[in-house]
Amino acid sequence: MKMIRAIIRPDKTEEVVDALSESGYVALTKMDVIGRGKQKGIKIDKIYYDELPKIMLILVVEDDETEGIVDLINESAFTGSFGDGKIFISPVDEAYTVRTRTKGL
Ligand SMILES: Nc1ncnc2c1ncn2[C@@H]1O[C@H](COP(=O)(O)OP(=O)(O)OP(=O)(O)O)[C@@H](O)[C@H]1O
Ligand SMILES: [Mg+2]
Repeated sequence: MKMIRAIIRPDKTEEVVDALSESGYVALTKMDVIGRGKQKGIKIDKIYYDELPKIMLILVVEDDETEGIVDLINESAFTGSFGDGKIFISPVDEAYTVRTRTKGL
């Protein structure tokens, strides 16, 4: 299994979540986060914002689903401007479903 953490523009959240859901990926965690990327924030008019609000989506998925999900997020979160987001992938050793006490997703 892999954990996908996608940090995206808040106003793209609905589009990304809908795209995932339409492809059958409904289980996810959504968090409000604050962060900055390589540009270290943004300057709008004369005001400099060194951190920006983003949404972090967290999905734990099977290994062979990872690439397709990354493609979906890349497509649905894209505007072409700085700050479109980042996607991080990490290995997940184990998952458990509390209700059924079963191991796995
Ligand atoms: N290296 C990183 N480690 C952890 N979080 C990051 C990292 N880079 C970006 N982020 C998070 O992702 C958000 C979006 O980053 P952003 O899209 O600006 O990345 P970028 O690498 O600067 O790309 P771009 O050049 O397209 O702006 C940031 O606000 C921050 O929350
Ligand atoms: Mg950036």
